[in-house]
Amino acid sequence: MISEDFRAVMRRFPTGVTIVTTLDENGGPKGFTANAFASVSLTPPMVLVCVNRAARSHPLIASAGKFCVNVLALEQEKWAVRFASRSTRDPFEGLKYHADRTGAPVIDEALGYLDCELAEEHTAGTHTIFLGNVVACGSRDGAPLGYFNAGYHDFGCRI
Ligand SMILES: Cc1cc2nc3c(=O)[nH]c(=O)nc-3n(C[C@H](O)[C@H](O)[C@H](O)COP(=O)(O)O)c2cc1C
Repeated sequence: MISEDFRAVMRRFPTGVTIVTTLDENGGPKGFTANAFASVSLTPPMVLVCVNRAARSHPLIASAGKFCVNVLALEQEKWAVRFASRSTRDPFEGLKYHADRTGAPVIDEALGYLDCELAEEHTAGTHTIFLGNVVACGSRDGAPLGYFNAGYHDFGCRI
């Protein structure tokens, strides 16, 4: 089966972990765990995130026209778990965050964040590729949360 072979390869590709945030129709915070994130362009600074069209966040990113990619630190694994689960009633409960340029939630203790205005949308299979122009960003030093073989890991590095 191609899909099993495909999964087997992707499990062997280590990534960082992000929480992509946006705002709902009432201006409330919304977010989900994502690792299908990449840098696209330096000048102008652009990034992409691939979002399943079945995700509740999907229509919100499209309608808000903004999103923020929060790169998680090693000690933020519990938030990655919470934001990946549909059964968490309010994943933001107890999480400290603030707003930068777009108003999408910036997680206080994230290793870095990229605050984006939505630039383009491209349908690809089950997902939409959302391309964003980075309008504000920030970072701090620390160890990243890693993801490999369907589990969270300490990659043993820091910046
Ligand atoms: C490590 C990890 C990475 C994930 N990456 C993505 C991703 O890049 N895009 C995506 O659409 N879902 C991704 N997911 C799944 C979403 O986090 C999950 O479906 C979430 O419940 C969606 O929330 P929502 O429906 O409230 O928007 C990932 C899950 C995990 C655990």
